[in-house]
Order: sequence, then C-alpha cells, then structure tokens
Amino acid sequence: MFKRLSSLNGFSKSNLLDFLSETYDFKNAVHKQGWGAFQSPEKRLIAQIFFEPSTRTRVSFELAAHRLGLNFAHFQMDDSTSLAKGESIQDSLKVFESLNPDLIIFRSKSDEGLNQFFQNTSIPYVCAGLGNEYHPTQALLDIFTLFEIFKKDVCDLKVLFVGDTKASRVVGSHLELSKILGYNVTQCSDQANSRKEITNNPDLESAIEGSDIIIRLRTQKERGSSLEGDSFKILSKHLNKNKLYLMHPGPFLRGEDFESHLPEHNQSLIWKQKENGLFVRSMVYRKIWSF
Ligand code: CP
Repeated sequence: MFKRLSSLNGFSKSNLLDFLSETYDFKNAVHKQGWGAFQSPEKRLIAQIFFEPSTRTRVSFELAAHRLGLNFAHFQMDDSTSLAKGESIQDSLKVFESLNPDLIIFRSKSDEGLNQFFQNTSIPYVCAGLGNEYHPTQALLDIFTLFEIFKKDVCDLKVLFVGDTKASRVVGSHLELSKILGYNVTQCSDQANSRKEITNNPDLESAIEGSDIIIRLRTQKERGSSLEGDSFKILSKHLNKNKLYLMHPGPFLRGEDFESHLPEHNQSLIWKQKENGLFVRSMVYRKIWSF
C-alpha cells in the first residue's frame, strides 16, 4: 500500500499502528546498530520532483535515502526548467516517467492533471504535499512523535489545530488519519481561515481547555490567506497552565505563530518532529521495497 501514497484512506487502524510501532523499533535499532545494518539490498533510484519550495520534507527524504544506501536525485521545477517555456506539470512528469525511476516523490501547489497522471503510471509514488489536501508523511511523522510518548493511547488524544487550517494540507492528511486512528481533531481559527468540516472555537483561551496537543499552523500567504493578528499566538502561559504539548509542521515564524522562545520550551515537540521526519520517511522507503 505504501507504493502509492497520497491519500491515507486505504489504510486500516492496525496497518497504521503497526507502521508506528515498526518505526519506533527501527529508530531505536538505528541508534544501537547504526544505519549500516539497514542498507537497501538493491540500488533503487528515486526522483524527487518539487514544483514548490521545501526544506524539511525535501531534505529528510533525501538524507533518508542516502542513509539507506538508495540513489536519490532532487529536481526543483522552477524557471530554470521547461515549465518556463510553457510545458505543463503533467507533461513535465511524463518526461520523468519516460526516464523510468524506481520511485517518484512529488510536491505541487495544485492538482493540474497530477491525479490523472498518477492514476495511469506504473511507477510507485509518494506525495510530499499536494494542494490544501495531502501531506501524508507529515501527518504520519506528527503522530509518530506523539506515539513515542503515548504509545497506543495516541488514539485517544485531543489535537487542536491553531491558525490557518483552511489552507493547510497537514490538516487535510490529519483528518484522514484521525478518522482511522480515532484521535479527536478540532480547530481554533478565524472564520476566513477555518475548515468547514471541523468544530471551530475561535477563542484561544477556551479552545485549549481540554486539549492535549496544539499544532500551530502559519498563515499561508502564498495560498491567499491573510494575517490573523495576535489572537492565535501561542504564549508560554498557555503551555504552562494546561500542560499541553506544542507542535508545528514548519516552517514557523517566531514571534508571530508563538513567542520566540517556544520551540525550545520543554513541552515543545517541534525539533523532535524534524528529527522524526528522517525515520518516518526511511520507514516509507523500507515499506515500499520491503527491506
Ligand atoms: N512541513 C513541511 O512540509 O515543511 P517544508 O515545506 O519545509 O518541507
């Protein structure tokens, strides 16, 4: 099932709990034995094709591949490519398909024929961010970070998204994942930036009562969202009073999304999320090729 990873809808609860548990064991084993014990038996070639900027996702997929002995090439599809001459995203992808990599990892701001392309290709693929709906490996690494603390009780957590939920593909994938695993998702957002399908309490002080985790989201100006002011800014008093964990998929804006020092707060899991991107994406490769 990991051979075509965009929506998480096809997974069962036991599939996903097994994935979290195997990633947990894999991470511990890497710490004890080193990466050398987990090399791919075959030199697969991965083409990572991004039509949008990225730091975390791009680099963690790339470093995970190198750690596992896989071959990896990143292609940033910008004005230096034939997109600048008017070639479509779909036709650009067909160029890569003709060159027959063993896996395509892609990111794009919108569909633009991508779903049609991926329905018809025989090459395995992983979505690394599509439109406002899909960022499956981000949702998996967020939940894995919580699984390290809560184990199977992760399914009983109350997760509050704060900020620009409407433009967030991270929320899109968490909505799919939460329906399978059972954790509760609510939002604290202004009306213009909220998702219609989730309960919204725009008052931060009352929204955080009873929540276990805050996942703060930045305002995605590149998708047309506008600044919310300070109403959704997370302060240390929120974490201290409610014993909440703080997460953020990144990139975050210190002083805007939260007080500047909060990523280093002892209830912040933000840097742990970044570390876990490497292990979750490694595990996706291991599942695709069963090694
Ligand atoms: N969380 C995330 O997708 O970050 P990047 O855009 O830096 O990859």
